[in-house]
This record gives sequence, structure tokens and C-alpha cells, in this order.
Amino acid sequence: MTINNLVNKRILLGVTGGIAAYKAADLVRRLQDQGADVRVVMTRAATEFITPLTMQALSGHPTHIDMLDAETESVMGHIELARWSDLILIAPASADFIARFCGGHGDDLLTTICLAAETNIAIAPAMNQAMWSNPQTQMNIAQLERSEVLIMGPAEGIQACGETGQGRLLDVDQIVQRTISIFPSEKLTGKKVVITAGPTRESIDPVRFISNHSSGKQGYALAEAAVEAGADVVVISGPTNLDPVDRARTINTVSADDMYAAVMSEIADCDVFIGVAAVADFKPVMQSEQKLKKTQDSNTMTIELIENPDIIASVAALSKRPFCVGFAAETEHLLGHARLKLQRKKLDLIVANNVADSSIGFNSDNNRITLVWNDGESDLPVMSKRNIAAKIVNHVSKQLDAQKV
Ligand code: C5P
Repeated sequence: MTINNLVNKRILLGVTGGIAAYKAADLVRRLQDQGADVRVVMTRAATEFITPLTMQALSGHPTHIDMLDAETESVMGHIELARWSDLILIAPASADFIARFCGGHGDDLLTTICLAAETNIAIAPAMNQAMWSNPQTQMNIAQLERSEVLIMGPAEGIQACGETGQGRLLDVDQIVQRTISIFPSEKLTGKKVVITAGPTRESIDPVRFISNHSSGKQGYALAEAAVEAGADVVVISGPTNLDPVDRARTINTVSADDMYAAVMSEIADCDVFIGVAAVADFKPVMQSEQKLKKTQDSNTMTIELIENPDIIASVAALSKRPFCVGFAAETEHLLGHARLKLQRKKLDLIVANNVADSSIGFNSDNNRITLVWNDGESDLPVMSKRNIAAKIVNHVSKQLDAQKV
């Protein structure tokens, strides 16, 4: 089974009362193996079969049971839970739950969440074979199918009660596969993307530093676009004023050396590395522990600088290396400098932008770029950093597909 198919996906797992409830524990793990973030809601009856604590420990989130539980409602209320999820998956779904769901009841937390949901709902029924083939259950199932609820199973076989027939919970692996197939595959599904963003700060003394102009906006926009394309995204960010990107993991760094170390710790299983950070080329040789003072005898000051590691060139030089995308912010000879950088740093793609024009670039929301790769280039008109990010992600996925052929 390929992993990471459910990265960035939020699944609310509803567990109802039945002997198969214990299999929900394994289901949490298998969904997490695919990258999903799973939260669990149990009916009261389910708690007779498996403890809420088990589900809490496995999911890493509080288990929600009652409508009016002040503690869990304050963490995330029932409407928020419904809004939070990309999919509500009820496994196992008992005959009683199916009947209540079908009747539009809102008499416990799980049915209320289903009523409030505007997202996909899937159920994996599990019950005695006679209960499953009962005409009322079959009518309920047919009605749910008409309302676009996805029915997974049930399977046939020996049942806990000793009878044989249809009604067993579908195999956990098959539930996971059916869940994956609900989500259309996106351009970077299954890929890990590491992005550096923002400036670095090279400290001179406790109050002063050397840095670059960089808002981090383009790097964060790229992280958002990669998340939307289904990637597992890590943002390694220098100091910025931006909110962390939802569904990406952010590692905050300050200096180029910090950023280098964070990148190297994430690079082993990385598929695409995008260096957007404006890394300071030099850092002070000495960092004073005390604030440097003005002196009476001189009105000049010399700070000796030493080169920082070139992060993207180090990544591109690794024997097992990801697809590498760099940025070239230039004030003159844009394309010539960009192409030289592409070759010197051994990159797969470089995004060139002219920073001499102050209406675009650094702190602006817009930018104008040219994409440059080994055997081609593409000039894009002025557009928002968000749209630029989507264009870059498209281009990267096309180049990755071309490499596979
Ligand atoms: O600063 P320069 O123009 O060389 O930056 C080109 C590319 O290299 C950018 O993608 C930048 O993030 C990356 N870079 C880096 N480490 C450095 C300098 C630049 O990763 N020390």
C-alpha cells in the first residue's frame, strides 16, 4: 500500500456500539499511516465496547462523546467538528445508528454532527446478518445511498454471534482504500515538499543583526499551494510576521546555520525542495556577547564577515537529492544570472524575478517572474504571489511527471 495518500485530510471517525468497535482502534492507526489527521466521536453504546481513552491515546485528540460535555465542547464544539472534517467516516455503523441517521435525528453528538455536516459522509455497517437483511435496514441503506452517503461493505463471513452471512465490518485495509478513493488525487499527492522562506538574521551582538529584505509572503504562498496540491509540506521559516500555513508543519529558525541544520534534518525523505528564503550570504565571524559600544577614538567600525553555507547548493549536491527549485532575485541581467545560478547550484528549476522594480517583489503582494530550467524558459505576466505559487507547483509537477517517463 502506498503511503501518504491522505496527507492534509481531516477525518472524523464516528464509532457506534457493536462488537466490531474494537477494530476502530486499528482503523485510526491505518488512516494515520496514510497521513490523515483523525478525531474520534463515540456513541455512548460504543464506549461499552472500547474505551474513549484508547481512542484518545491513538488519535492524539480528546474523544468526543456527549452533546453537552462542557470540557470537550470547549475544545471543539459539535458544529466546529462538522466543519473541521473533510470526511465523516462511521465505522462500525450499527443498525440503530443507521436508522437514527436516516430519520434525521439529532439525539446524540454523532447524529447531530451528521445533521450539521456539509462534507462527505461514509458508513461501514456492521451487524448481525438478519439485522442487515431486514427490509427496514435495507430501506434505510437505500435512502442513504440516494443522499450520496457512501456505504462501505458489509462483508460476508462468520459473525461474532456464531452465525454466517453478510454483516461483518469490511476489512480495515479495504475501508482505508475506499477512503483514499473518495479524495481525488492531486498534483503533489504523496510527495514531501520542504520550503525555506523569509530572511535569516545573522547576529552581531545581542541587539543587532544583518539581514535581507524578505517578507516571507512568496514562500508561504508556495507552501499553501503545495498543501492544496496534496503534498506533505514543511516550512522552514526565518523571522516573519506571517501566520503559520494551515496543514503545513512550520520550523522556525533565525540564522542561516539554524536554517541549514533544520533543512538537513528534513531532507532524507523529501521529494521537492524549494529554497525561497533570502539567506544572508555572510555572517559576522565573531558574535559579541555584550552590546558593542561606540568608541571616542574612531567614527568607523569594521565587522569581519564569513560566508554562510549555501543551503540549496548543499541540498542539490546530496547523492540522493530531491527536485530542487531556487529563486534568483536580481537587479540586472535577470535571465543570464538566473541561468548561471541554475547551472552553478545544479538546480532543476529557477524562478527569476527582477527586484529593481519596487512595485513588485520583496514586500509586495504581486510579482513578475520567469521560470528557467535546463532546456526552456517561460515568462509570466505580473500576478499575485498566490497565483505565481500555483503556476510554480504546476510546473514542478509537470517536470516530475516528465522525469518518470
Ligand atoms: O542569494 P542567491 O541569489 O544565491 O539565492 C539563490 C537561491 O539560493 C535562492 O533560492 C535562495 O533561497 C538559495 N540560497 C540558499 N542558501 C544561501 C544563499 C541562497 O539556499 N546561502
